[in-house]
Amino acid sequence: MRLSALFPLACAIVAFVLSMLCLFAGHKPGFMEEYHIVTLNTSTLGHNILSTATTSSGPTPTATSIGSFFSSIAHNVSSTIEGDINGIIGDVADKLAKELGIKQWYSLHLMDLCEGTFTPNATEKGASLNVSTCSNQTAMYHFDISKQLNKELEIGPLHINLSTISWPSEIQDGLNALNTALDATFVLYAIGIAAAGCAILASLVAFFLHGSRLISFGNWGLATISFLSLLIASIIITVIQSKATNLINKYGNEIGVYAYKGQKYLILTWVAVAVMFLAMLAWVAEFCVGKRNRGREYTEKSSRHGWGRSRKSDEAALRRSGV
Ligand SMILES: *[C@@H]1O[C@H](CO)[C@@H](O)[C@H](O)[C@H]1NC(C)=O
Ligand SMILES: *[C@@H]1O[C@H](CO)[C@@H](O)[C@H](O)[C@H]1NC(C)=O
Ligand SMILES: *[C@@H]1O[C@H](CO)[C@@H](O)[C@H](O)[C@H]1NC(C)=O
Ligand SMILES: *[C@@H]1O[C@H](CO)[C@@H](O)[C@H](O)[C@H]1NC(C)=O
Ligand SMILES: *[C@@H]1O[C@H](CO)[C@@H](O)[C@H](O)[C@H]1NC(C)=O
Ligand SMILES: *[C@@H]1O[C@H](CO)[C@@H](O)[C@H](O)[C@H]1NC(C)=O
Repeated sequence: MRLSALFPLACAIVAFVLSMLCLFAGHKPGFMEEYHIVTLNTSTLGHNILSTATTSSGPTPTATSIGSFFSSIAHNVSSTIEGDINGIIGDVADKLAKELGIKQWYSLHLMDLCEGTFTPNATEKGASLNVSTCSNQTAMYHFDISKQLNKELEIGPLHINLSTISWPSEIQDGLNALNTALDATFVLYAIGIAAAGCAILASLVAFFLHGSRLISFGNWGLATISFLSLLIASIIITVIQSKATNLINKYGNEIGVYAYKGQKYLILTWVAVAVMFLAMLAWVAEFCVGKRNRGREYTEKSSRHGWGRSRKSDEAALRRSGV
């Protein structure tokens, strides 16, 4: 029994569980929805077609067919909502999405996309997320928010599409460029999880079979593979999150889409990295102690007794402190 193997064992278990959660958060409705990578607030999406109604409510400025089509939609939207068009941030914000046939928020998870409404309402600060549905989970999910929105707009009550609300194509173009990186994170998480799983087994071996340096070395190797995979995955996720929100906010705010970073997901993934880092350090220490033990065996044979004992006691102190 090697008690000092318990600390890296515990770390490996925690890292394993946390990185599993990174992979599976939000894979079905209501399961850790808060742990999304990015979420989009679409509760005011399309408010620009309402604005068209206010500006063209007098004698129609542009009498083109497109122009009248727009104002006809706008008229329908605004008359149904019966809201104060200037007070977009009010009752309208909570009803606009429903009028268009879309949801109030969309969230990206590693394996799917979830959508739903805000509870109690979209304008309430810190409203919670009420999940309606999630897409089917797939191993390498591609975040295609434009397709999803277009589909919902087309079957929605107004039967419009993304071009009607002047959805900028830059958003999806930018997201497509990030999707390859998302695929990579999926693979990295899978490697990180597999290595953490093996590290758990190897730590158990180290716990029951006393003292081989080879076992310490193998454990260190597994912890390092897991740590590096999770580290790179977390870096990529952090970058993707920031790029995607900047991109969506840059082109989308004008038409009423807002993107937020999923802070809780970041915490989850970085804690997994940190814990695996501790496991890796613990095995380095273990390996060094093992090396010194072996050194001590040689010196004990040739040198005086008291020296060996003092070494032994400071090693015991190290073990007690959990290294
Ligand atoms: C607006 O409503 C009218 C009648 O309610 C309907 O005939 C017209 O097609 C609607 N326009 C659009 C763009 O949905
Ligand atoms: C949203 O909900 C809060 C709390 O229930 C309420 O005070 C507020 O008036 C609601 N806003 C709208 C626009 O319904
Ligand atoms: C969604 O966006 C609208 C428009 O910016 C904002 O008024 C509302 O508070 C947001 N809702 C949530 C829950 O963040
Ligand atoms: C979530 O939304 C559904 C309908 O969209 C509603 O019936 C349900 O009450 C909502 N849940 C909460 C907690 O508000
Ligand atoms: C999701 O999975 C269900 C059952 O496996 C299937 O019936 C449905 O068509 C799938 N939906 C999509 C969009 O692939
Ligand atoms: C969107 O709707 C407009 C008007 O109905 C139509 O002209 C256009 O082709 C549609 N675009 C797409 C991509 O379906």
